[in-house]
Amino acid sequence: MNFAILENGFLPSKISTILPDEFDDIEYVGNNLPKILANNQIESEILNLEPEKDISHLSIEELERAMLLYSYIGHAYIWGNLDTDKVIPKNISKTWFKVSQKLERPPILSYASYALNNWELQDKKKPFDLENIRILQNFLGGMDEDWFIMIHVAIEYEAKEILSNLKHYFIDQNEDQSSLESALESIRKINLIMNRMPEKCDPFIYYNRVRPYIFGWKNNPATPNGVIYKDVDEYDGKPQLFRGETGAQSSIVPALDALLGITHSNDPLREYLDEMRLYMPNEHRNLLNNLDEWSKNKRSNLTSQDNSVTLSNEIIKEVHTFRNKHLEYARIYIHEQALSNQNNSNVVGTGGTPFMKYLDKHLQETVPTND
Ligand code: HEM
Repeated sequence: MNFAILENGFLPSKISTILPDEFDDIEYVGNNLPKILANNQIESEILNLEPEKDISHLSIEELERAMLLYSYIGHAYIWGNLDTDKVIPKNISKTWFKVSQKLERPPILSYASYALNNWELQDKKKPFDLENIRILQNFLGGMDEDWFIMIHVAIEYEAKEILSNLKHYFIDQNEDQSSLESALESIRKINLIMNRMPEKCDPFIYYNRVRPYIFGWKNNPATPNGVIYKDVDEYDGKPQLFRGETGAQSSIVPALDALLGITHSNDPLREYLDEMRLYMPNEHRNLLNNLDEWSKNKRSNLTSQDNSVTLSNEIIKEVHTFRNKHLEYARIYIHEQALSNQNNSNVVGTGGTPFMKYLDKHLQETVPTND
């Protein structure tokens, strides 16, 4: 089984920031999306786009850039004008579908486009830092939308430390406790980054201006029958139901659960988390499936003779702290906002889960098994 990705984390090593000239029309709509949405011109802009692009010559990072642009434009079309008929025009549906087939995930905005492939360094001469990230693509734009994504990107960046160190200890069995110490230091840093969400992302703005654009078409009362991708022969005119963008499509937490032996008994969120793998880049999906297999058969190398059990339990407690803060955000950024807002008040997550109950259950299950 191949676990090499754990050495580098889940952020791509190369991110394309602009497509070749033939895609200028798509780049234009992407770059101007905040203005186009404010002017309610998304439909007319889409109808000007060239319907079918040749994507055969695009590199992987360019395919990711194309997926990002088509996904943002597709969501802007569906959610930017709620009166549209929920049929994605052929001007974007056909190329969006072709790109998604090549990347082996559905034609919908997923975490890989929204966060993993959506940033560059603001000042390339300076090192990676939360405040040196520049988000490439927005819906409406503004500090709150950027910050919401920046926090995810910064967590992904730091996560390579905990993932690689846990790999060395548990999978490579290097028996060096310093790996567990470094992993503990890293998850503490992740929690410090997580704590910074409210600094520049206001719950009201998030709920009313950021979140409405990232919903999917599955389990969503606004699209009870799904969405039609016009002229995509493979869909035969039938509406499609796909989940929306959510941090549940990040591979970090499922990887940590598997490495640390945290398990969740069956519940709708767990089923949903398994479904989320279909929306991840295929190499991340394969890694998580391999990790699940590995964790079923693993032999524990933690011994009570040294400090390793204590360290491993400390790391699990920090994952518990992460889930606790996350549940607090779900409450403040969504649940409480929904109670005071009638327009956009479905209390399911953007991915489509009745989340409060199950996020809490997963929090309760994040405990050392040998306590
Ligand atoms: C204001 C901040 C956030 C809010 C309101 C929020 C909201 C949610 C909601 C509602 C869910 C349930 C699934 C669904 O979408 O239907 C979820 C799941 C999840 N989110 Fe977030 N999220 C936030 C930030 C983050 C960040 C920064 C991460 C880091 C990568 C993250 C990672 C996850 C994970 C891993 C799950 C799956 C649940 C689990 O395994 O415990 N979220 N989130």
